[in-house]
Amino acid sequence: MELNEIVRGAFEKAFPGEDFGFVRVVPATDAKFGDYQCNDALKFAKKLKMNPREVGTKIADLLKDESVFEKVEVAGPGFLNLTVSTEWLNAQLLNLQTSKHLSIPQIGVGKKVVVDYSSPNAAKQMHIGHIRSTVIGCAIDRIFRALGYDVVADNHLGDWGTQFGILIKGYRECLTEEERQNLTVATLEKCYVLSAAKAKEEDGIWKESCKQELVKLQQGDKENLALWKRFIEISIGEFERMYRKLGVKFDTYRGESYYNDAMPGVVEKLLKMGLAEESEGALIVNLEKDKLGVAIVRKSDGGFNYTTSDLACVESRVAEYDPERIIYITDDRQNLHFQQFFEIARKMGYTTTFHHIGFGLMSYQGKAISTREGNLIKLDDLLSEAKRRAYEIVKDRGGTEELAEQIGYGAVKYSDLSHDPCTTIDFNWDKALALEGNSGPYLQYAYARVCSLMEKAGVDFSSCASLTSGKDSASPFSVTTPSEKKLALQLLEFPGAVVRAAEIYKPSVLADYLFQTAQLYSSFYQNSPILKSEEAVKNARLRLCALFGEVLKKGLYLLGIETPSHI
Ligand code: ARG
Repeated sequence: MELNEIVRGAFEKAFPGEDFGFVRVVPATDAKFGDYQCNDALKFAKKLKMNPREVGTKIADLLKDESVFEKVEVAGPGFLNLTVSTEWLNAQLLNLQTSKHLSIPQIGVGKKVVVDYSSPNAAKQMHIGHIRSTVIGCAIDRIFRALGYDVVADNHLGDWGTQFGILIKGYRECLTEEERQNLTVATLEKCYVLSAAKAKEEDGIWKESCKQELVKLQQGDKENLALWKRFIEISIGEFERMYRKLGVKFDTYRGESYYNDAMPGVVEKLLKMGLAEESEGALIVNLEKDKLGVAIVRKSDGGFNYTTSDLACVESRVAEYDPERIIYITDDRQNLHFQQFFEIARKMGYTTTFHHIGFGLMSYQGKAISTREGNLIKLDDLLSEAKRRAYEIVKDRGGTEELAEQIGYGAVKYSDLSHDPCTTIDFNWDKALALEGNSGPYLQYAYARVCSLMEKAGVDFSSCASLTSGKDSASPFSVTTPSEKKLALQLLEFPGAVVRAAEIYKPSVLADYLFQTAQLYSSFYQNSPILKSEEAVKNARLRLCALFGEVLKKGLYLLGIETPSHI
């Protein structure tokens, strides 16, 4: 931010030869301290064992000469309280409105990031437990793209393993000809349940037969391989139906099976590097020194496991994309798995940044989600219910089905994204769909209100560039009242909120920002007449409203939430 540089410049001028990379200007915690503050005079004084108040005063004196500031004060032991000038603020607003990416810094240009998310297991319908990875992943994907990163969104399907022996056997013997012809994921799920139940029979014949089907598949038997492929295609088709509803798009669908052939090579490499060792017939990587226990990379029966597969996946992604980082999104029960294989990958020499977003579990209307409780709701059903409930809200205002989808799905997504991903959350219909409070519909409604205001004023977002507040002013913005100023300062924080959300991998940072912004907008809107004001004031305020609308639209887009212009 420009302010950082100005204040840093004052430090450099006052104390030549020192490094002031750490100097930061942050929004003031309370308006009575001004608009911004900088507490780094204290930090610096401590380092050089100087009087902090003296350092602060020296910097303040230099800053007073800058036209950017209307007021510079030294408070307490050396805090700098900064009040910006109206001209500066107006010019910054114009910069933000006319910049290409709403001033989101393009820090990722030329860098590749792989985002590994959603990743359901094939041959099963997606359920309520899949929402978090899908929704958080989609937001992370969009946020990184907005920062200029070249993102590869990869769906790491669970498409290999013992369940396919059970499925193939079940397909052949538990389904009718008609079911086989019109195969769906629901039928696959049914045939798995039937076949798995038979595999529990005491004589063990069925179980043995499932095993043989699996071995045949692993050895490349044509018929079994064709069946497996069909199961996967049908599953992806069904998943994509959900992703279309949610506005989620993947660049690749590389499931675990994609890495099968590379796993023996990975184990060989681990042995050669002296990282793997024999233990009770299995091959392990001992991570006890790193306090991460032991990771098995080859089981005693010769089979590989999840860790081996993820290491092979890293090898492949690094060779193909050379990504700057790889981000994985799963629930936090997999934390240890990720810590272990990240550590092994580092020991193998990979320098890529690995990050796991391990999100907390979700409960539904105050109850834990479990198969036994019978509340393992299908994602499809949850989305239908969201649409139905949203339709109830909008139908009297002439709302369409499409609008009900935008609001219903947006509510489901926002109720997740407004929480820190690392916490457990409860999904609650009333809260998710509330028109007041921190909800998706509240923010969508705020956007629609801006649209109808613009409509009433007879301008739209693209033509608002022609609105001027007066002939001789350098900026068409003209911030005057306190509530207007609060909103203006908050709007300037948008790029920072996007950067911060990516830095700490929390879309909730952006959701919080948008909610606070919408609240400040609402208080500005209540306190400041717009259409009834004289032309210059009206135009300046309309532009501020339009800027708020643009920030809100972009922010919600980054969270994967649509912004209908009428609600
Ligand atoms: N399919 C896995 C599951 O359902 C998630 C995969 C996550 N990605 C990865 N590379 N391990 O638990």
